[in-house]
Order: sequence, then C-alpha cells, then structure tokens
Amino acid sequence: MLLLCATAARPATIDDRLAPCLACHGEKGQSLIPEVPSLGGQPVFFLTVQLLMFREKMRNIEPMTGMMQGWSDDELRRSAAIIAKLPAPVPNQDAPDPARAENARALVQQHRCNFCHKQDFSGEDNAPRLAGQREDYLLKVLREYKNNRRRAYDPSMADVLHPLTDANFQDLAHYLSRLK
Ligand code: HEC
Ligand code: HEC
Repeated sequence: MLLLCATAARPATIDDRLAPCLACHGEKGQSLIPEVPSLGGQPVFFLTVQLLMFREKMRNIEPMTGMMQGWSDDELRRSAAIIAKLPAPVPNQDAPDPARAENARALVQQHRCNFCHKQDFSGEDNAPRLAGQREDYLLKVLREYKNNRRRAYDPSMADVLHPLTDANFQDLAHYLSRLK
C-alpha cells in the first residue's frame, strides 16, 4: 500500500508530466485562456531554452517557475520535442483592421522582425513563432520586454523594441495574431 502511494506521487512518464501543462496551454497546441500562450509549432530550441530559463528562475513568473522546479535536463528536452510537434495555433479569424495591418507591416519592415522570426513568422532556433499567437499574450510580452520585466536569453528584443511605442505594440499584436 505504502509503495503504491509512493509511486503514484511521482508521475511515471513524460506524457503524465505534460498533462497538467497542456490542460492550461491547450492539448491541441492552441491556448483558450487569456494571457496563456499557445505552444503548438514553436521551434524546439526556443521551447527548451524557455523551460530552462523558468527552471533557473531567469524568467521568473508564476505558474511557470514553480512548475519547472525539479525537472531534469533530459525531461526538458523531451517535453520540448513533444510540444513542438503540436499543431500551430489557428490564427484569430476576424479580419484585420486595414489601417492597423498596414502600420504593422511597415513596422515589420523597418525593424526587421521577420529576419529573426522568419518571413512567415513561424519562428526559428531561439526566435519564437509569432503567427497566430494570442493577441493578449503578444501585447503583454512586448510591453514586458520594453520595461525589462521579461528577461530574454539574448538581448535582441529589448534592443529592437527600444524605439517602439505602446500604440506600435497594439498594432503588431493585432496583425501577428491574425497572420495566416
Ligand atoms: C495554469 C496555467 C499553466 C500551466 C499549468 C503551465 N503553464 Fe506554461 N505558461 C503559462 C503562462 C501564463 C505563461 C506565460 C508567462 C508570461 O506571461 O511570461 C506560460 C509560458 C510557458 C512557456 C513559454 C512560451 C512562450 O511563448 O514564451 C512554455 C514553453 C510553457 N509555458 C510550458 C509549460 C510546461 C512544459 C508546463 C508544465 C510543466 C506548463 N507550461 C504549465 C501558464 C501555464
Ligand atoms: C535580432 C533578432 C530579432 C528581431 C529583429 C526581432 N526579434 Fe522578437 N525575438 C527574438 C528572440 C531571440 C526572441 C526570444 C527571446 C527570449 O529569450 O525571450 C524573441 C521573442 C519575441 C516575442 C516573444 C514571443 C513569445 O512567445 O514569448 C515577441 C512577441 C517578439 N519577439 C516580437 C518581435 C517583433 C514584433 C519584432 C519586430 C518589431 C521582433 N520580435 C524582432 C529575436 C528577434
């Protein structure tokens, strides 16, 4: 009996460990919860780095920092590989506001967002996928890079966003969340 309890306390497989994660982030790669990011289609290296940063409290934000305590490097890598294979999120379906989309496209050109995040914003290496991400989450993190609340693995984002305004962030989030 005691033995049974002890084994039940620690989930056996990586799928068991990922179940609570995907209950919040969306089992099909798409988050339905405000300010919780969709994870489907993210580059595996980006996911691995962010999970490591949560565990090491370099990206210190609940519930993530607490959730990642006690995970081994191998578990981080294996979870990232599974999550990266979930389908990319379906973009926000309502039509983009033409003026805001045009502003956003000009900002993308000027600040070369699509150089690191790829032409179609599907992400690459440690630059995340942005296409179809939740609008509320995009806006939140753009503000947090700018005010230094979100620490990044490399300083690109804070540098890039330095000259941008909050109105710019709103247009970018509007546009990217609707990008097909
Ligand atoms: C109760 C909801 C919840 C649970 C459970 C949860 N997360 Fe999260 N997760 C979040 C939120 C909220 C954020 C965004 C944090 C922020 O605003 O910076 C996040 C961020 C992330 C990110 C970074 C994504 C990005 O685009 O920056 C990854 C990767 C991630 N979580 C993986 C996991 C894994 C793996 C687990 C299980 C061990 C997990 N999450 C459990 C809510 C949750
Ligand atoms: C020089 C390369 C580079 C450029 C240019 C760049 N980014 Fe990034 N971006 C990154 C990297 C690398 C990360 C991950 C940083 C980290 O560790 O948090 C990132 C993260 C992000 C995130 C966080 C997404 C998430 O899921 O957590 C958003 C949003 C974002 N970038 C938007 C933009 C926008 C909008 C532009 C143009 C104004 C831009 N980026 C230009 C490299 C770049």
